[in-house]
Amino acid sequence: MTTTSDALDPEERLTRSELEALQLERLRWSVAHAHANVPHYRRALDEAGVSPDDIRTLADVRRLPFTTKEDLRQNYPFGMFAVPMAEVRRIHASSGTTGRPTVVGYTQTDLDNWATLVARSLRASGIRPGMKVHNAYGYGLFTGGLGAHAGIEKLGATVIPMSGGQTARQVQLIRDFEPDAILCTPSYLLTIADALEAAGIDPRSTSLRVAVLGAEPWTNEMRAELERRLDIDAVDIYGLSEVMGPGVGNECVETKDGPHIWEDHFLPEIVDADGEPVPDGEIGELVFTSLTKQAFPVLRYRTRDLTRLLPGTARPAMRRMEKITGRNDDMIILRGVNIFPTQIEELALGIEQLTPHFVIELSREGHLDAMTVRIERHPALERDVCEAAALVLAQRIKTHIGSSVAVRLEEPGALPRSEGKYKRVYDLR
Ligand code: DLL
Repeated sequence: MTTTSDALDPEERLTRSELEALQLERLRWSVAHAHANVPHYRRALDEAGVSPDDIRTLADVRRLPFTTKEDLRQNYPFGMFAVPMAEVRRIHASSGTTGRPTVVGYTQTDLDNWATLVARSLRASGIRPGMKVHNAYGYGLFTGGLGAHAGIEKLGATVIPMSGGQTARQVQLIRDFEPDAILCTPSYLLTIADALEAAGIDPRSTSLRVAVLGAEPWTNEMRAELERRLDIDAVDIYGLSEVMGPGVGNECVETKDGPHIWEDHFLPEIVDADGEPVPDGEIGELVFTSLTKQAFPVLRYRTRDLTRLLPGTARPAMRRMEKITGRNDDMIILRGVNIFPTQIEELALGIEQLTPHFVIELSREGHLDAMTVRIERHPALERDVCEAAALVLAQRIKTHIGSSVAVRLEEPGALPRSEGKYKRVYDLR
C-alpha cells in the first residue's frame, strides 16, 4: 500500500525557500506574459510605471496594479485572453448577479494543470485511486462540475458525473452505486441528507466516507453537523473561476484547519480596504496572482473573499487560508453593524432545537433597516420548545454580533432547499 506522503506531488514536498524560488521564476514569466499579450495589462503596467523586469523579488508583486471584476467586465468577452483563440481549448463563465458574466479561458496546459491541482486537492481530502466519486457540482459553464470531473479522472478515481439538482435521483444513485466520496456545495449536502432521511435511509449508513465541499462559505459548526449526520469527513475546497476554478486550495483531511493554497501556481496576498498589504495572520481581502496560467493570467486579482493567511501545517511549505468568513459584498451592514451570514450559521448550529436551514431577510421599518432570520425548527421536537430556542438565537445574535434582529421560527421544509450555491440573503428594501 502507498502511504499518503508517497503519493504527494513533488511541489508539495518543496521547502519554503525552494517554493519561493519557483514562485519568483514563475511570477516573472507570468507578468511578462500578461504584459506582452494582454492590452489591458500592458496599459495598466505602463500607467503604473512598472515593467516586467522590475520584478526581482516576490515582494515586488506589490508594485503591480490590482485587477478587479470590473476590469474583466470591461474586456468582455475575450479581451483578457493572452493566447490566440485557436489555442483556447475551453471556456467557462460565472453568471454574476448583475450584468455580463465573467468569461475565462484555458489552454490544454491550463486544463492539465487544473486537473493536477484538483487531483492533488482530492488526495489531500483522503480520496484515493480506485475510489468512486459522486460529483454533484453543476456541469456546464460553472467551473465546479467539469473542473472536479477532470481532477477525479486524473487522480485515477471513478467519476460519477451526476451534476447538481434532481435530488431524488442523487439519493438513488448514492444508494445503488455506493460511492466512497461526494463533491458538492455544503448546503446541497444538507439537502441530500434530508432527502436520504425522507427516503427512509439513515444518512450515516451510506457508503460515503468523504465529502469535498466548497463554492460557498461554510463554518466549522456546519462541518461538525454534516460529519455527525452523515458519518463522513467533510473537507473544504476553495477556488474561483477567475483564478482557475475549484482547487486553488484545499484542506488536508488529517488537520481540517483551512485550505492550503497551492502556492506553486498561485501567489496569495491579503490587503485591507484601501488595498494596502497586511501581514500574514491579519484578516483582509484575498488577492491572487496566477503563476502559470497561459490563456487567462491574472495579476493581483481582488477576490472580495475575506480571510487571513496562516502558516502551512500538513503541507509545511504552503500557506493556509482560514475558512472564509464571507465576501465583502455579502456583508450585511445593519444600522452600522457588520454581519456575515456565516456568523448566524455558527450561532444557529449551537442550538439543538434549530436546524441549519435559515435565510436572512432585510427590510425597512420606518427609517430603519431591519433583519429577520427565518429558521426551521428541529423536525422531531415540539414547536413550543423550539419557540424558546428562537428567542435564545436572537439573544445570542445580540450578545455576539451586537444587533437586534427578529428570529422567526419556520416549520420543517418551509424554506427553499439548496441545489448548489445557496441564496441566504433576501433584500426586500
Ligand atoms: O465556486 C469554484 C468552485 C467550485 C470552488 C466548486 C469550490 C468547489 P465561482 O462560481 O467563480 O467559482 O465562485 C467563486 O465562491 O470567490 C468565494 O466567494 C466562493 N467560494 C468558493 N469556494 C469557497 C469555499 C467556484 N471553499 C466564489 N469557501 C469565491 C467559501 C467559497 N467560499
